[in-house]
Amino acid sequence: MCKRTRRVAVLVSHTGSNLRALCEAAAAPGSEFAVALVISNNSGSLGLAHARKLGIATTHMSAKTHPDPSERDRAMCRVLEEHAINLVVSAGYVKKVGPRTLQAFERRIINIHPALLPRHGGPGMYGAAVHRAVLDAGDRFTGPSVHYLTDEYDAGEVIAQREIPVLDNDTVESVAARVLEQEHLLLPAVVQRLAAEMQS
Ligand code: GRF
Repeated sequence: MCKRTRRVAVLVSHTGSNLRALCEAAAAPGSEFAVALVISNNSGSLGLAHARKLGIATTHMSAKTHPDPSERDRAMCRVLEEHAINLVVSAGYVKKVGPRTLQAFERRIINIHPALLPRHGGPGMYGAAVHRAVLDAGDRFTGPSVHYLTDEYDAGEVIAQREIPVLDNDTVESVAARVLEQEHLLLPAVVQRLAAEMQS
């Protein structure tokens, strides 16, 4: 049977450093996936600009372009289908994905979170708040988690994590930077694995 490169869509809102890591991994020899589409709710996001520079198809979809959330959900589903997407990766996407899209991509839509779920997840737990919670709790370890995306924030089954120690002199900024480095290793590895598994 001939092997097919799996087509990945990435959802981003701001910086898109995980998107960059995915694009780099997709370009490496032996990659099982290509980043075929980037969707953002933020027309000014760096992630969207990076995708355009690489010639990747992009779509801006927000409450401005689609004021009705269920119409937005339908439009997201449609664009994913039009681009024959096999796997959706939410990487720093700050909006909820609608029920139609979640259902159409059940167990083919994943998210990255910067803490060891089930610790420090849920509504309001993003960015600095997550790392602040890790430090306040006195956790000895932290690190990113990749999990299946469901309609409940950070509650889907965990696929993989990477643990790093929290250091005595860590600040929110230092721990955030070290976790992000790990995200850039973990996410492409998980996407590569899932893409490979889709071959069988
Ligand atoms: C990452 O820390 C990710 O875990 C979280 O949002 C951040 C996105 O960073 N969900 P970037 O936009 O990929 O740089």
